[in-house]
Amino acid sequence: MKTHKHSEDILARNRRYIPGGISSINRLADPVIAFERGQGAHLWDAEGNEYIDYHGAFAPQFMGFHQPEISAAVAGVIQSGEDLFGSGPTELEGQLAETVCTHIPWVEQFAVFCSGSEATQQSIRLARAATGRDHIIVMQGGYNGWHNDVACNLMTPLSVVGPRVSPGEYPFLPISAGIPKQHQALVHPVNYNDLDSVRYVCERYPVAAILTEPILQNVGLIKPQPGYLEGLRSLADEFGALLIFDEVKTGFRHAFGGYAEISGVSPDLAVYGKAIASGYPLGAIGGRKKWMEFFIHPDPKKRVLLAGTYNGHPVPMMAAIKTLEILQRDGGAVYRHIERLGQQMESGINDALKDAEIPALMVRQGSAFVLYFMDHAPVDWHDLAAHHDFEFDNAFRREMIQAGIYFFPLATKQCSISTAHTAEDIERTVQAVGTTLKSMSLQQTRH
Ligand SMILES: Cc1ncc(COP(=O)(O)O)c(C=O)c1O
Repeated sequence: MKTHKHSEDILARNRRYIPGGISSINRLADPVIAFERGQGAHLWDAEGNEYIDYHGAFAPQFMGFHQPEISAAVAGVIQSGEDLFGSGPTELEGQLAETVCTHIPWVEQFAVFCSGSEATQQSIRLARAATGRDHIIVMQGGYNGWHNDVACNLMTPLSVVGPRVSPGEYPFLPISAGIPKQHQALVHPVNYNDLDSVRYVCERYPVAAILTEPILQNVGLIKPQPGYLEGLRSLADEFGALLIFDEVKTGFRHAFGGYAEISGVSPDLAVYGKAIASGYPLGAIGGRKKWMEFFIHPDPKKRVLLAGTYNGHPVPMMAAIKTLEILQRDGGAVYRHIERLGQQMESGINDALKDAEIPALMVRQGSAFVLYFMDHAPVDWHDLAAHHDFEFDNAFRREMIQAGIYFFPLATKQCSISTAHTAEDIERTVQAVGTTLKSMSLQQTRH
């Protein structure tokens, strides 16, 4: 039985000076584990236990920890004398932007920030400036960051959000205190996969932007139904709103051009983060020039403030440049490799589920997957919240951690395979899933 006394002591000590003892409250989970080292697909905790990791730090670690070429490129920048100068342009920011714009056809211009939240915040401002409207549509069950426009309606208990409403909208249910009421009134959460509700809101309010993750990846993986993303595109065009894809989790991970490339639906703006810079802090917006140029609009009343002391810092720039270079090698060999690993995981887990006779299924997109303990793949948050066995999922994850496999211990959180995982890692994981599910199934039968 793994215990985490040292990790708990670290948290207790931190609590004296840090609220909650941790710099992002989303990282607080049961069990408390302080990790000390990561290499490739493996992690070591403060007690010295080793794990095969599928958390990937909430998904940026698409290349695994300390990918040698990326570490060397970053070390090279630090040694070169390049630093944050905060005056004038840099070649690195230009090189990164050129790479993205050259390889994603509908991205004509690109702007960088330090996190996904900053990028979604700025994308909404661009949409408001471009349309002269204030209202936005977001998805119940989506996550787009921590700022006032979007910190709402994530894993809302059904007792709070109420039954599914369609066509219609949900109240803004903040996941943070301190969001002004006037602000909340401008944000309209609707069901994912529900075009009627998007139309309903567009007919009633002047909507600046429809903002969605193309796949909801903060409640596992809820995929768009056929025609849904195309339908959002048409509604945005019909009502003169901007379609913004939040590709912070899907971008560069599922394809170089993100889920927009896979679906063939081009948004007006896409927001990137996470996998683009392999764990270094970076958020970005890519999109059509006519929208991006609101950052430099000649009329100061229409210009969106593009500013940030750390924007374009050479370390994340170099991490991203190297990451994108690796992703493009050999005609995208990385994506073929990761798809093979994903398929191996999927077929192994499906066999394990059959064997253990557990009513569950695996949903996967490339390297990202989740197990839903219910009898069908959910189509929206209400479906998931009503049918998924959250208690079983939490217990399953804790058992997997005991078996040395790190699935983040919070029900429905997506698992991420990295390019550093090997077929042997996957095989060991599948075996652990099988053993764990069988013993949990036996315990259930006994009760
Ligand atoms: C889809 C999505 N958008 C935006 C964000 C916010 O990004 P960051 O945590 O870098 O601010 C996240 C973070 O998990 C995310 O998953």
